[in-house]
Amino acid sequence: MILHRLTIRKRILIIFLMVAITGGVVQFIVAGRYLQLATLEFYQHHLETDALLVSTAFAEPLVEYLDGEDSSSISQVMGTLQQEVGHNYLIVDRNNRVMGYTANTGYEQVDRVPDTPELIQARSEHIGADIRPNNQGEATLYVAITVSYENNPLGTFVLSEPMQPAYDEVTRRYLELAGATVPVLALVIAASLWIAGTISRPIQSLRNSAMRMAHGALDTRIQVHSQDEIGELANTFNYMAGQIETLMHTQRSFVSNAAHELRTPLMTLKLRAEALSEEALPADEQETYLREIRQEVDHMAELVSSLLMLARIDEGRHQPNGTVTDTVATLHDIMRHWRIEAETKGLRFTAQIDPDLPDLPMSPNDLRVVLDNLLSNAIKYTTRGEVRLSVSHRKDAFTLEVSDTGVGFLPEQGTHLFDRFYRSEQVRGQYAGNGLGLSIVQSILNHYGGRIEAHSAGIGQGAVFTLRLTPAP
Ligand SMILES: Nc1ncnc2c1ncn2[C@@H]1O[C@H](COP(=O)(O)OP(=O)(O)O)[C@@H](O)[C@H]1O
Ligand SMILES: [Mg+2]
Repeated sequence: MILHRLTIRKRILIIFLMVAITGGVVQFIVAGRYLQLATLEFYQHHLETDALLVSTAFAEPLVEYLDGEDSSSISQVMGTLQQEVGHNYLIVDRNNRVMGYTANTGYEQVDRVPDTPELIQARSEHIGADIRPNNQGEATLYVAITVSYENNPLGTFVLSEPMQPAYDEVTRRYLELAGATVPVLALVIAASLWIAGTISRPIQSLRNSAMRMAHGALDTRIQVHSQDEIGELANTFNYMAGQIETLMHTQRSFVSNAAHELRTPLMTLKLRAEALSEEALPADEQETYLREIRQEVDHMAELVSSLLMLARIDEGRHQPNGTVTDTVATLHDIMRHWRIEAETKGLRFTAQIDPDLPDLPMSPNDLRVVLDNLLSNAIKYTTRGEVRLSVSHRKDAFTLEVSDTGVGFLPEQGTHLFDRFYRSEQVRGQYAGNGLGLSIVQSILNHYGGRIEAHSAGIGQGAVFTLRLTPAP
């Protein structure tokens, strides 16, 4: 369809015009026909009234003529009437013999007229009418009336008048009608242009904004002027633009953070490698550098695997499925390693695990990642005292809690702990880490519909991480 290739503006204009013109033409034809009929009927009716009025004037002269007198009185009456009322006249007897006529009507050489339709009609209905060309070819209306005297029909009186004035009147009315449709059409064009504008202008600006965004201006927003569908579209666009901007911002800072995190250990590696290549390096120093190199490589490997894990979760490749069936045993298994770590560091490690825990709605691997992160943090950020794990199940919900007596954090830091690469000032430079562990924990939990919260009474007051998990409905 060609319409689809046009702009909305043109399409609206064309459709509006088509509807308006079709409507106008139909209206014009219907109304025009009524006007024409009414005008012609009125004209004919007018002449018939005239004919009725004047025909009576002929009764007496006709009687006299039929009695044998000459036709002078008929011609006299006709002359007077033509002067006063107008029209042309003809009068015939019952056998269509011409008895009188007004000048220049074409009856000069005629004795007897043929049976024209109006004469036939007048004989049966008293009055008859017909429209046909006269002898000069002009359309003419003929009205015939039977003239009677004392109820005896004497003859027929015919009044004729050219139709041209009536036709002129009809033409004038048609022109008036056409004239009235011009302002309507103008109104339709203006209205369609306006409507097209209200639709196409915002779409145009939407398009421009989308284009600007595509070229990198992520802060582009549309001004919303209306509350209709287009306004809603603009609002949605702005919402989308905001989301994209945040996403891009997060992405960019993520990449620069990751690069930054990798650069430091790479620098260390480079320096240590250079030092090792020096000759005559004492054996103990050599040993130290090699240990540091191993540590940095471990650190980098950990960072890279954390990054890969996050990428997998972000890309939606990490499927939240599986269940821990022997919950208590699995927890004890995970704990074993961390109990040794804690005790090696001189910390107490306590656990309170409900003995009859049901199946836990999380894959064993994910549970291990989550607890490894929380427990390693608790041990890492605690120098004295205790690390504790408790797991309970009430009303279908699991609660896992990891608490310690370590460095703690300020209340305002609580919400940031789960941000990627976030590390509090208390720990930065003091403890190794990359700030990705807790964000991995949160991403995994999000997939299972779980929640995690961090609480601390303040710096040096220890920390509590509480995790809640309910089976998916
Ligand atoms: N048990 C804790 N006690 C105090 N602060 C913590 C604890 N666990 C995490 N944090 C804070 O949250 C930050 C982010 O933790 P995490 O994502 O595991 O990264 P990382 O341990 O590598 O620094 C830590 O740097 C630290 O500031
Ligand atoms: Mg950590």
